[in-house]
Amino acid sequence: MNVAIIGSGGREHALALAISKSKQLEKLFILPGNPGTGKIGKNVHIDFKYHELIIKFCLDEKVDLVVVGPEIPLIDGLTDKLVSQKLKVFGPSKNAARLEGEKSFAKNLMKEYGIPTAAYEIFDKEDHQKALTYLSKIKYPTVIKADGIAAGKGVVIAENFESASSAIDDCFINSSFGNAGDKVVIEEFMTGLEASIFAITDGTDFILLPAAQDHKRIFDGDKGKNTGGMGAYAPTPFVDEKILHDVSEKIVKPTLRAMQEKGATYSGCLYCGLMLTDEGPKVVEFNCRFGDPETQVVLPLLDGDFLELLYSVASGNLSNNAVRYNGGSSVCVVAASSGYPDSYKIGKNITGIEKVESKSLLVYHAGTKEVAGEILTNGGRVLGVTSVIEENNLTKAKQTVYDAISQINFDGIYYRKDISDKAQIKI
Ligand code: AMP
Ligand code: GLY
Repeated sequence: MNVAIIGSGGREHALALAISKSKQLEKLFILPGNPGTGKIGKNVHIDFKYHELIIKFCLDEKVDLVVVGPEIPLIDGLTDKLVSQKLKVFGPSKNAARLEGEKSFAKNLMKEYGIPTAAYEIFDKEDHQKALTYLSKIKYPTVIKADGIAAGKGVVIAENFESASSAIDDCFINSSFGNAGDKVVIEEFMTGLEASIFAITDGTDFILLPAAQDHKRIFDGDKGKNTGGMGAYAPTPFVDEKILHDVSEKIVKPTLRAMQEKGATYSGCLYCGLMLTDEGPKVVEFNCRFGDPETQVVLPLLDGDFLELLYSVASGNLSNNAVRYNGGSSVCVVAASSGYPDSYKIGKNITGIEKVESKSLLVYHAGTKEVAGEILTNGGRVLGVTSVIEENNLTKAKQTVYDAISQINFDGIYYRKDISDKAQIKI
C-alpha cells in the first residue's frame, strides 16, 4: 500500500513510525514531514494549505491511503476533496470536523443528545452586553472559550468578573482570535483529573485506544501559560474499566449516532478530552484528529497492524482487532526552546539524539530542520523524547526518559521535570 501522511509535527512522526511497521506498506510519503519522518519515509515539500497540490500528488503516486494529521486541513475540507477524487482518507469530512472547529456546534450537539459536558451559554458578538450581564450573575471560576480554532490559546479560566470580561473583550473588541472569537462559549468550571482518549471509528463501530494524559501548561505543577503540550504519558492508571465503559456508552456511542443523524457521519479519530469528575467523565473538548503529544505515547503501546486499522476506517469497515494494547507504558517529554510559548530563538544546533535513541527510547522531531547534515531547532516545541518500556511501570518509564533527555542539548533547551507525576496520585 502507498500511504501519504499530511503534517509535520511530532504526531506525524509517531504516525509514520507506527505505519512503517506494517507489512502492507510499500511507499510512505509525508507532506511536508520533518527530519525525523525523512528517515522513515519520503518527505515531500507540499504544505497542507495546498489542497490541489496534495490531490495531484496522491493521484500521481497512486496513494492508497491519505492520513491527515492536523485539524486545519480537516476543518477546511481536505478529506471531502480527496474523497471526491476516489482517494481513501483517514480523517473526518468538513462537516464532521465541526466537532472541533466550532465549539458551539459540539456543545449544542452534546446538550441535545444528553452527552455529559460542562453546563454552558453561547454569546455572539452582538450579544456583548448580555454576556457581561450573564457574567455578573454566575459563580467563579468560569471558563471562556472562543468558538473557533485559536491555536490552543482561545480558552481562559477566569477567577473573577474582571478577568472574564477582559477575555470577552479580547474576543469581541480586540479580535485577538479573528473570526474564531466572534462567538464565545461560557462554561461551568469542572474539577477532576484530565484524560485523553482516542476513539477510532468508521462512523458506526469504534475502538478506544489506551488512555493518555497531556500536560498543557509550560511550567511544572501545571503553572504558567497554556502550550501545545509539554508532555504526555500512557496508560493513565486512573482510567479504569468503569470509566472506559462510561466513555463508550455515554460519550462516544451517542456522539457517533448524533453525527449520523445530523448527516455528518464521523470517521477517523475522535479525540475525547475528558474531565473525570465526581459525576463521571465529562467532555472538555472534542478534537477531530489524533492528539499531540498523546499520539507519541499511545501508538508505541499498540501491537498489531496500525495501517490496517487506519485503512479499514477509511474503507468504512472498522477492523476492530487490528491492534491491541501491548501491556507497556510510555512517557514523552517535550524539549522546547526557552521563551516558548512566547517568542524564542531558532537555528540552534541539537546534540545527543543518536546517543540516546534505542528500542526503548524514541526521539520524535517536531520543530527541527536539517541543514548540511546538522539538526537545528526550528520551532517552539523541538523534540518529543519518549520512553517506551515493555512493563506497565510509569516510574521506570519516567526514569528512562529523563535519563535520556539530560543527554540531549541545544542552546536554551527547556523541559518540564514532572511529566507523568500525576499518574502517582492514589485514587
Ligand atoms: P481546551 O482547549 O478546550 O482543551 O481547554 C484547555 C484546557 O483548559 C483544558 O485542558 C482544561 O485544563 C481547561 N478547561 C477547559 N474547559 C474547562 C472546564 N469547563 N472546566 C475546567 N477546566 C477546563
Ligand atoms: N494534546 C492536545 C491536543 O492535541 O489538542
